[in-house]
Amino acid sequence: MKKKMFNHFEEKEIPKEDLNFLKNLLYPIELRRDLLIEHLHVIQDHFGYLSEKNLTLLSKLLKISKVEVYEVASFYAHFDIVKNNEVAPPNLTIRVCNSLSCELSGSKELEAELLEEFNSKEVRVLKAPCMGRCFAAPTVEISHYHVDKANITKVKDAIINKRINPVIPNYENYESYINKGGYKKLNEIISNINDNNWYDSLIKSDLRGLGGAGFRTAKKWQLVSKEKGPRYLAVNGDEGEPGTFKDRHYLETEPHMFLEGMLMASLAVSAEKCFIYMRDEYPAILKILKVEIAKLEDNKIISKNFIDVRRGAGAYICGEESAMIESIEGKRGLPRHRPPFVGQVGIFGRPTLVHNVETLYWVTKIIRDGPQVFTNTKKNNCIGLRSYSVSGRVKKPGLYLLPSGSTILDIIYTAGGMIEGHTFKAYQPGGASSGILPASLNNVPLDFDTLNEHNTFIGSAAVVILSNHDEIRQVALNMIEFFKAESCGQCTPCRVGCEKAATIMNEKEWDIPLLEDLCEVMESSSICGLGQAATNPIRSSIKYFSDELKKHV
Ligand SMILES: Cc1cc2nc3c(=O)[nH]c(=O)nc-3n(C[C@H](O)[C@H](O)[C@H](O)COP(=O)(O)O)c2cc1C
Ligand code: SF4
Ligand code: FES
Repeated sequence: MKKKMFNHFEEKEIPKEDLNFLKNLLYPIELRRDLLIEHLHVIQDHFGYLSEKNLTLLSKLLKISKVEVYEVASFYAHFDIVKNNEVAPPNLTIRVCNSLSCELSGSKELEAELLEEFNSKEVRVLKAPCMGRCFAAPTVEISHYHVDKANITKVKDAIINKRINPVIPNYENYESYINKGGYKKLNEIISNINDNNWYDSLIKSDLRGLGGAGFRTAKKWQLVSKEKGPRYLAVNGDEGEPGTFKDRHYLETEPHMFLEGMLMASLAVSAEKCFIYMRDEYPAILKILKVEIAKLEDNKIISKNFIDVRRGAGAYICGEESAMIESIEGKRGLPRHRPPFVGQVGIFGRPTLVHNVETLYWVTKIIRDGPQVFTNTKKNNCIGLRSYSVSGRVKKPGLYLLPSGSTILDIIYTAGGMIEGHTFKAYQPGGASSGILPASLNNVPLDFDTLNEHNTFIGSAAVVILSNHDEIRQVALNMIEFFKAESCGQCTPCRVGCEKAATIMNEKEWDIPLLEDLCEVMESSSICGLGQAATNPIRSSIKYFSDELKKHV
């Protein structure tokens, strides 16, 4: 028989004072169903966990079933549900990144040291996926404070000095952006909104979406604006693809360049409201957005509540646009079946224009300064620029804006060359879902479409450089373990497939025919891109590195 989750708090027992306490705690967030995740964050932040009692009280306040509250709370990694008979988690959480670049830099060993040193009633040490700081691997997060190039001494030091809050970087704020002519173009567009050609530059630039799928931006605006209104705009700030940190970079340096682009896009589709879905792993950005959006409201650039920032809660799948929309609606991030597409039926059933952060950053530059800011750069028959997030075995990992026709050798060169003692062996061209290419494919321009013939894609342009010190089977296993942990579990081919693949890849020798069978099923019958592309690390390892797929003992 299934154990009942909420057997202790029946409605008649709910003490009024507890209900009032929670109501006050949640104020001023409205008691609406779609704000469930925001409410869960408030409770988690205040108590450090979600008690059974508070989940019951919240269901009462939101007038929804307790099961609904529980299923949402239990979906997201950043919520800790504590049942009545369970002990609350320790006050302090240390998260150690276990994604590829951090693993290459010794995060496993660091995690073991941290567990030995700190794991106690007061502190817990957890594994966590990529935090978008791969250039400073290994990364550790203590509460909301990130330790770059972490080691035991740095972590100890941060704990002793009670560093638990995010460090706000030195970014271009509203005042300095305005001084440089910021929002002038937006105001011009608003004054001449009947001029149908105001985004001609964008059409000419042929800007494509930089979230991974590469859909043509201007085309998307035209399609969404044809749908019957009212319409919404949603910004995808989930940036969970391991190795990617470009959106974080642009938001932490020039947030208004992105915000102005978002407002331009909202004009293009006459959006009634903009939602920004921002991952919880970027606490500094959540603060920056709060401060800077308030300035936009105070200066009447936007009306109050035109922009609604929603905080993610540690689920990679919420970067998939339909899962993101579910999450914005306060639900579990389960990708939807398509059609209909989100541009037709999106948030609350309304047509929704979805864009990646960096796409909107370029929208401002292109519409303000003309298409040539993008199109003047040409290389290897590719036009435009690309923000490559580069990490792994290079001397200077970081974000590099290069011609979009750059090859892996150009990227390694720009990133200072290989680390001393390391020989270039292989690379991840565009996030974990793009798989692993051998060093011999060193003359392929890393752009949209150019990687199709190698059965992969540029995705989010998260490049990880691997060397002769790295075992391909271990790299592929790291990637598949990520997908296994992040699969939403909605469809069997992906849920069971990732798990089974990880088991086989842990064997002494890979069962290649079985893995290929598994890949075929996952690719052909998974609902979304996670399950369909999770096979890339397996396929590419088999294709290019078959001689390595035996365990070295
Ligand atoms: C599993 C999965 C994860 C994704 N994660 C992100 C993400 O973190 N950020 C993002 O912008 N797009 C992500 N995407 C792509 C989005 O679904 C969508 O195409 C994109 O946000 C559209 O914006 P764009 O046209 O500006 O690129 C993901 C797609 C899949 C299948
Ligand atoms: S493919 Fe995976 S992540 Fe996508 S819906 Fe299916 S189970 Fe969920
Ligand atoms: S921060 Fe660890 S891999 Fe990105």
